[in-house]
Amino acid sequence: MGLSMIALRSRRVPSSADPHPAIGKLAASSPTALPASSRFVQPHPKGYCPRIADRRAAPIPKAELHLHIEGTLEPELALEVADRNRLPLPYADAAELRARYRFHNLQSFLDVYFETMAVLRTEEDFADLASGYLNRARAQGVRHAEIFFDPQAHIERGVPMATVIDGLWSVLAASEERYGISTRLIMCFLRDRSPVSAMEALESALPYRDRIVAVGLDSAEVGHPPSEFVELFDRARREGFRCVAHAGEEGPPSYIWEALDLLRVARIDHGNRCLEDPALVARLRAERVPLTVCPLSNVRLGAVGRMADHPLPEMIDAGLLVTVNSDDPAYFGGYIDDNYRLIQRDLGIDDAQLLQLAGNSFRAAFLSDAERARYLKELEEYSPAGR
Ligand code: ADE
Ligand code: ZN
Repeated sequence: MGLSMIALRSRRVPSSADPHPAIGKLAASSPTALPASSRFVQPHPKGYCPRIADRRAAPIPKAELHLHIEGTLEPELALEVADRNRLPLPYADAAELRARYRFHNLQSFLDVYFETMAVLRTEEDFADLASGYLNRARAQGVRHAEIFFDPQAHIERGVPMATVIDGLWSVLAASEERYGISTRLIMCFLRDRSPVSAMEALESALPYRDRIVAVGLDSAEVGHPPSEFVELFDRARREGFRCVAHAGEEGPPSYIWEALDLLRVARIDHGNRCLEDPALVARLRAERVPLTVCPLSNVRLGAVGRMADHPLPEMIDAGLLVTVNSDDPAYFGGYIDDNYRLIQRDLGIDDAQLLQLAGNSFRAAFLSDAERARYLKELEEYSPAGR
């Protein structure tokens, strides 16, 4: 059996008839069996054996599949860009701005998120945002990143689609050479704006279709079900885009069903609330639908009270294809490897499971078979003592 793509605790064997498009022929090309975690964790000479996620000097190679580039806007960069664009923010310093980063639900976060990103105006701003993220991601072991962006939020402020995409692309086009990270762009639609506005955004992105692998659906979830966006996603699919959608973060399991059945998504972003519906869990498991779970985000936005209560172990036990991601790391107090570290510390995720989660991240990514095989091999050869 290859690195099992789903079952970390239950060790479910992947089927070679895997129907999921993001998985492709992976089962066949997966490296050899994942042995006991001891293979990866060498005993410390003095008997102390830190868990893998504690080894910050050599983080696990991983893919990040749920990352909003606007959510990587650190207060320091926001203030610098605001100054540059003569749009001063009403905060004396980064600490004062950071003090606003306390949230009680998704909407309370989105209010600050949209307000702060309003400083982004020029190609240089978007380029700085992308390079800032890639620098941090590299230090956290990211080898491949699928990056969301929210064009409607910028277009509403008079920033053209070309400025956003050209600015990001000026960095992402050479991300592999400069940062050692392959990247893809995913254009998200704001579900709390009209489907007409989303369709206009899609049309204005068509000249850049070669730079965008997929479309997604984000922003305030409750009251904005996927069923409102069927025509939009049908059009996006006809134009050659893959599809993903946030669902089941705050919204009910019915939104996950709709994302699968009506929007025909390849992955569900978040998806935590699937656990309330056993038939939905069975469907996600049977079809190997990846879930891009974001533990720190869920804690910071109040979906779970504290990390120790996060449903990730339950999702793993249910045989779901779970990946771990950072969502909006500048706002939630940690990047992807910080999430890996916290789930080890607070949820009892062991080293073998952590390696499985990293393997899942490559399996669920929009990579070619050759790229996927290369990354899985790198993961198989990973040694926490150093690369
Ligand atoms: N946009 C940025 N972060 C988001 C999240 N966690 N949920 C929905 N929309 C978002
Ligand atoms: Zn998100």
